Formats: sequence, C-alpha cells, structure tokens
Amino acid sequence: MKILVLNGSPKKQSDTMHITRAFLDGMNQAGSHQVEVIDVIKKEIKPCLGCFACWKNLDGKCVQNDFQNEILSKILWADVIIWSFPLYCYGMPSHLKAVVDRTIPLAKMSMQEKNGTVIHDTLFDLSSKHYVVLSGCGFPDWEGNFDGLKMQCANMFRGHLDMVCVPETPMLSEPSAEPLTTPLKEKFKAAGMEYAQNLTLCEETVKMLETPMLPNEIYIQIVNANAAQ
Ligand SMILES: Cc1cc2nc3c(=O)[nH]c(=O)nc-3n(C[C@H](O)[C@H](O)[C@H](O)COP(=O)(O)O)c2cc1C
Repeated sequence: MKILVLNGSPKKQSDTMHITRAFLDGMNQAGSHQVEVIDVIKKEIKPCLGCFACWKNLDGKCVQNDFQNEILSKILWADVIIWSFPLYCYGMPSHLKAVVDRTIPLAKMSMQEKNGTVIHDTLFDLSSKHYVVLSGCGFPDWEGNFDGLKMQCANMFRGHLDMVCVPETPMLSEPSAEPLTTPLKEKFKAAGMEYAQNLTLCEETVKMLETPMLPNEIYIQIVNANAAQ
C-alpha cells in the first residue's frame, strides 16, 4: 500500500509521532508498504486565499504555487493518509488546518444532499481513500476535549475514517514514563498490524488505545508539581 503521513506537530520531537511511528512499524510488519512522511511545519504552505480559482480551473491545483500542490499530488497517490498531530485549542494546529483548507482543489463547487448532510462533488474519485487520524493532547481524559476535532474530521475525511484521540501524550517524550509509554506503543504497533490487515480498527482497539496511561488525578498532580508558578 501507499501510505502518506502528514505530521502536523511543529516540534522537532513530537509526542504524537511516537505513537504514529509505532503504528507504522505494525503496518510494515504486516506487509510491505511505500511510506512517505511529510513534516508539514517545514514546508511552505500559505493559508487559503478563498479565491475559488480552483473551482473555475478544475485542474486539481491551487493557484498559489507552493508545497500544497505537492501534497495534493501525494494525497491522490496514497491509498492511506495518516494525519498525525497534536490537539491545539480543541482542533488541529493552524499550519495543518491550512493543508486541510487547501484540499478544496480536489473538490468541485457543485454539491449534493446526501444522508442528511450536504457534500461537494469531487474532481477525482476519492472513494477508495482511507484516512487515519492520530491525535495526541496534553490534558488527561475528559469528555469534550476532542469533540470539535472529531466533528471536523468526520466531515472532512468522509468514508473510510479511523480516528484515535490519545490523552496525556507529553508522557511519550518523558524517559521516566517509559514503563507506561512502552506498553502503549506496543498497543499502537499491534493496532498498525490490525489496520494493515483490515483497513479499519475495531471499536475495542480504539477504546484500548485511548485509555489513559495514568488516572486523571495522578496525571494532574504530576503536571502541577512540574509547572512553573
Ligand atoms: C497552542 C497549544 C494548544 C493546545 N491545546 C490543547 C487542547 O486544546 N487540549 C489538550 O488536551 N492539549 C492541548 N495542547 C497540548 C498538546 O496537544 C500536547 O502537548 C501534545 O502532546 C503535543 O504533541 P506533539 O509533541 O506531537 O506536538 C496544546 C498545546 C499547544 C502548544
């Protein structure tokens, strides 16, 4: 399979990429794949101009000729697109949001009402694309933290979407937390194998991957003990 990873962390050492790498290891163990990783922060990708020139030109390209046109080609190339990024203010980081906004050259202005929603027609057949969203965050587990992001991704990545929202991910970059993070990475590796075999993750697997490594009160205690006052 052809796998495109869009790493949306702006950091040199991303917490989230620890689990994404484990997931890829698992996928690679289940078969041989072509993997392309793009560190979005390192690329020049301007915000969308809102000019809709792409919906007039219908050439699958943006009139701003920066790296986004390469990303659009890679999206068309890939069978599986893995979006790996930290939760920022209940959504995705702004530089990655620019990438998502600027996928509209793959769509057309014409729209259809379908199953209670309205969607744009697409310029290319994207129906076989599979999307995986792996998102980490700094809070412990609480209902609502990922709600906005989940809604956005369900609307943006229609069809084959698997989404894993992981709490407490700063622990993944903390060597002293290895007794807790190593088992989580092993679970992501197993999940990668499951995904490569079935092109989806079962509900129990997602639930297991999203289970906090530490109970909320202990995580909060540790964070607060290390926070500047
Ligand atoms: C600007 C900013 C906004 C953030 N917003 C949230 C948030 O809404 N909820 C949350 O749980 N964590 C939030 N975080 C914490 C990050 O998601 C967390 O540190 C994550 O582990 C970083 O992952 P990375 O190393 O892959 O970039 C925020 C961090 C930053 C810098």
